[in-house]
Amino acid sequence: MGIAVPGMLGALVISLGAAPVAVQSSALVGEGIAGFSPKGYDPKLTPSLCLEKVPQRVGDLPQDWRLTPTFDIEDGKASASLSVPENTSLYGGGEVTGPLLRNGQSIVLWNTDSGAYGVDGGKRLYQSHPWVMGVRPDGTSFGVIFDSSWKATLTTGSERIDFDSEGALFQVYVIDRESPQAVMRGLAEMTGRMPLPPRWALGYQQCRFSYAPESKVREIADTFRAKKIPCDVIWMDIDYMDGYRVFTFHPDGFPEPKKLNRYLNQQGFHSVWMIDPGVKVDPNYDVYRSGAKQDVWTKKPDGGDFTGFVWPGECVFPDYTRPETREWWAGLYKDFMAQGVDGVWNDMNEPAVARELGASTSDTMPDDTHHRGGGALPPGPHLLYHNAYGRLMVEATREGIQAANPDKRPFVLSRANLLGGQRFAATWTGDNFSSREHLELSVPMSLTLGLSGQPFNGPDIGGFLGDASPELWADWIGVGSLFPFARGHACAGTNNKEPWAFGPEVEDAARIAIERRYRLLPYLYTLFENSSRTGLPVMRPVFFADPKDPALRSEEDAFLVGNDLLVVPRWAENPSLPGGVWRDLSLIEGDDGPHQPHLKIRGGAIVPAGKVIQHTGEDSLAPLTLVVCPDENGEASGELYGDEGDGYGYRSGDFGRWRFKARTEGKTVLVSVAKSAGRQALPGEVRVEVVTANGIRRGSGSVTDGIRIGL
Ligand code: NOJ
Repeated sequence: MGIAVPGMLGALVISLGAAPVAVQSSALVGEGIAGFSPKGYDPKLTPSLCLEKVPQRVGDLPQDWRLTPTFDIEDGKASASLSVPENTSLYGGGEVTGPLLRNGQSIVLWNTDSGAYGVDGGKRLYQSHPWVMGVRPDGTSFGVIFDSSWKATLTTGSERIDFDSEGALFQVYVIDRESPQAVMRGLAEMTGRMPLPPRWALGYQQCRFSYAPESKVREIADTFRAKKIPCDVIWMDIDYMDGYRVFTFHPDGFPEPKKLNRYLNQQGFHSVWMIDPGVKVDPNYDVYRSGAKQDVWTKKPDGGDFTGFVWPGECVFPDYTRPETREWWAGLYKDFMAQGVDGVWNDMNEPAVARELGASTSDTMPDDTHHRGGGALPPGPHLLYHNAYGRLMVEATREGIQAANPDKRPFVLSRANLLGGQRFAATWTGDNFSSREHLELSVPMSLTLGLSGQPFNGPDIGGFLGDASPELWADWIGVGSLFPFARGHACAGTNNKEPWAFGPEVEDAARIAIERRYRLLPYLYTLFENSSRTGLPVMRPVFFADPKDPALRSEEDAFLVGNDLLVVPRWAENPSLPGGVWRDLSLIEGDDGPHQPHLKIRGGAIVPAGKVIQHTGEDSLAPLTLVVCPDENGEASGELYGDEGDGYGYRSGDFGRWRFKARTEGKTVLVSVAKSAGRQALPGEVRVEVVTANGIRRGSGSVTDGIRIGL
C-alpha cells in the first residue's frame, strides 16, 4: 500500500512495503472525467475490458482536481487506492450481498457460482464491477473505475477505497460531478448503455428448472391465459436439450421446437431458451466437432484442450477472447434462432466448472488455463480473463442473435458479467434462496447493480433454492413485480412456484401485483428508453430524490422506480422517505392488500399508465391514463415514450415522445401536451386522474387540446 503526499499527486509516495508506482500520465477524458495511467502500464498485460471505447484526451487535469489514485506493485500484483473525503457515502461494486451503503465492506471480484450466496459469506458472486460511487455530504458525487479484469479485492473503507489486484498495472478513471445522477451518466459515457430492449422483455416472465417436456410448457402458458394472469415470456431451462448438449433439442421432450414457439407466439408469449458455454466432448456431436475443427477451445498450459465437468459431463469451453471463436459462437445461433427462439439465456458462464465428475460444488478453470486473445486482446491466463469470460460470451451471443434476426432487438440474459456488460445482456441475481432474508436482500442487490451501470436486473422472484411458503411467495411477487426484470423461477426439486401454485389467495395477490406492473408499462418503457440513452438506473435508491439529505443515504427497503414512484415494502420499519408531497397511488382494485408494497406518486409528477393487458403485444394505450399529482404549487409534469416495441423503426422517427404539463387554475387543473417528437400520434381520448389530498378527480378528453379537471 502507498500513501500519496497531498499536492504531489503520485510523484512522491511513501511506501509501506510495496513499491509505489508514480502516475505517468493524467488527463481529462470527458467532462469531469479524468484518466490516470501508472508508469509501466502495459495494455498487453491488462487490456481494457470495461470501457466501451478507448477514451481520448480532451484536456489537462485541472489544478484543483480532487481525487487522484496512488498505485503500488508488489510481486507483480498491482493496486490502486484513493482517499475518500470525510463522511462520504459509498456505493457500487455491482452484484453484492450486504447493505446498499458500502462503507466498511470488502468484496472479491472473481465471478463465482455462489448458490444461496454462500461462497465466502457472499463476498464473491457471479459478476465483477470494479466500480465505486461516492456521494459527499453536500450531494456532489464521484465515481471510480478500476479498469482491470484481473482477480481483485475491492475494499470500500471509511477513509479510502482500495483495489488490490492479482495482476499487472491498470488504468483508473475518476468521474467527479455535481450529483450521483450526473456520475451515472458519466459511467455510461465510459462503459456504454443498455440497448433498448424489446418491450416484451418488460413483461412478467415465468421460468422453472425445467418446464419439460413441451406439453408442460404449453400447460403453463395456457394456465396464465385461462386464469387471466398477465405474462409475456416462458423460459426453457436446460432440460429441453438433448443430454445437455447446447444448441440441441431433446428428440422426445422437445421434438418440434419451432411448432412450440409458434404456439407460444400465437398466445402472445415470447420464449427464452438457455445456452451454456460448456460443450460436451462427444465426437458425434456437430457443435463439438465444428469447434474442435476450428480449434476454438481454451487450453491447458501444455497446449491441450482444457476440459472440466458441467451438466453434460466432460466439456470443453470456447475461448471467447479470440475473435474467431466469437464469430464461430455467434454463427451457432443462426439455426437455433430459426426455430423461432425469441431470446437467449446464457448461464454458468463464470464459467462454473467442476474439476471432477459428480463434484457437489462447482469451481472454475485453473488460473493458468490459457486464453489466446486476438484483436485488442493479448494472450493471457485465466486469472486475467476469468472475470471477462461471461462478458465476452454474451457479446458473441448478442452478435449472433442480432445477425440471425437483424430486424429484431436482441434479448440476452446472463448470469456472469463485467462492468460495462449492460451493453450486451440483462442480468438476474443468480441462485437466491426462498427466504425472507433473500427477499429483503433483493432490494439493495438490485439497487447496487443499477448504480453499477446495469439497469436491467432483478432476482428470481419467490427464491430459486428451497421451498417457498405461500406468504413468502405472495410478498415476493408483490415487490418483485416492480423490479426492472420480473421473472419467477424455481430450482428442480422445489415446490411449484407459479402464481396459482399456492391457492386462491396467493393467486389473487399475484394477479394484482402483475396487473399493477402491466398498468405501469408505459411508464416503465419510458424509463427503459431513458436509461438506454442516459445510463440512469430504472430502479433507484431513495437518496436520488435528494442527494443532499444524509438521512436517505442508507435507505434500502424502500426504493424509487424512476423519479416519480416510490415503493415501500411492508417489511420496511420506519423507512427514511424523501420529503415533499408523496401520495398513495392505486392502480388496481385490491392493491392495498397485505402482500402488496405501498406505492406512492411524487407531487409534481405525471405518470403515464396503460390498461391491464395480458401481454405486451396488446394495446396498452387504449386508453392512456395520465395520473397527475400536483405539487405544492399545483403543478406537475411527466413524459411518455412509445414505439413499435421491437425492431429499429424508432431510429428513423417511428416513435412518439410527449412531455405533459399540468397547472392548477383556481378550482381546475389543466393538463396538456407541452412538447412532442416523433411520428407516432397519441390516442385521441386520454383519461386523466388527478391525485390530491382530498382524493382523486377524474376526466378525459384530448390532451392535445388540453383537458380541464374540476377539483
Ligand atoms: C444455474 C442457474 O443459476 C439457474 O437459474 C438454472 O435454473 C440452473 N443453472 C439450471 O440451468
